[in-house]
Amino acid sequence: MTDEYGRNITYLRLSVTDLCNLRCLYCMPEKGIPQLSHEKILRVEECVEIARAAIALGIHKIRITGGEPLIRRGILDICRGIGRLPGLEELCLTTNGLALADKCQALREAGVTRLNISLDTLNPEKYRRITRRGRLEDALAGIETAEKAGFPIKINAVLMGGINDDEIMDLIGLTADKPYEVRFIELMPIGECLHWPQERFLPAETILKACPGLIPCDARGVAERYRLPGYRGTVGLIRPMSHRFCGDCNRIRVTADGMLKPCLHSRQEVNLRGLQGKELVAAMRAGILQKPLRHHMEEGGSDAQRTMNRIGG
Ligand code: 5AD
Ligand code: SF4
Repeated sequence: MTDEYGRNITYLRLSVTDLCNLRCLYCMPEKGIPQLSHEKILRVEECVEIARAAIALGIHKIRITGGEPLIRRGILDICRGIGRLPGLEELCLTTNGLALADKCQALREAGVTRLNISLDTLNPEKYRRITRRGRLEDALAGIETAEKAGFPIKINAVLMGGINDDEIMDLIGLTADKPYEVRFIELMPIGECLHWPQERFLPAETILKACPGLIPCDARGVAERYRLPGYRGTVGLIRPMSHRFCGDCNRIRVTADGMLKPCLHSRQEVNLRGLQGKELVAAMRAGILQKPLRHHMEEGGSDAQRTMNRIGG
């Protein structure tokens, strides 16, 4: 359906857990994480019901997010249930990749069509520092297994000044022999990094300056795409801080506790729990009609009252 501003809403990001096996600096605090109690989290059937209602409203792409979706109990049942809904064209999943070596074959069989894997560095010590607990080799093993299982792969790197901006060429290097899309995402001032120093926030132009050989190919969805001559894969730039993003925004989000968020950066939330059938569809429609024209991040950061793991990255 179209929203108040004529944007066609076709994409749902559904968070299935607020928990994660990592603690990335920009996303989650080290300790003292307010964990949603078990009963507050959408059950498998509720996730599928929400997906069904979204499809009735014209959504044809659904992304499963978290927290880390692969540590959610019942994740395969959720994917299976959503994957077989008629009208769905794409079922994607965003993961840190750590559990992929074990799970990617089952995910493929469950109907997942694409994977986005988060990887901010290729340096093992830095990976440990950024994620506070992960092992780079596990993430790389996950990516490799996913590729062998036949998934098209996008790798998401959040660009952080003074942390990983010295690795731009190395990360682009991943596209030399593999058909990956390596996407650099501008760091957004939300949750944990709301008050980070200015030098951490770099514009996407930083990538083009660091790698002047990049040739534009096309823009697909939110990513502007480039390629290095002779390389198999592509490089994507994602600029959530710019407003071009808002005008083309086709997405809504549902949090793991069943709140519809029409905009990532707004406080607005519409409860979907306890609703079914027509009521559920009507609540989602009302939520979509509340979607704001644009975010106001440049005026002192995101207005969302949750950290990213509690919204869905
Ligand atoms: N800015 C940009 N991207 C973020 N993510 C989490 N927090 C932020 C932020 N503040 C991204 C992660 C991952 C996805 C789950 O969301 O890097 O790719
Ligand atoms: Fe976990 Fe992703 Fe947040 Fe890192 S960014 S802590 S992997 S949810």
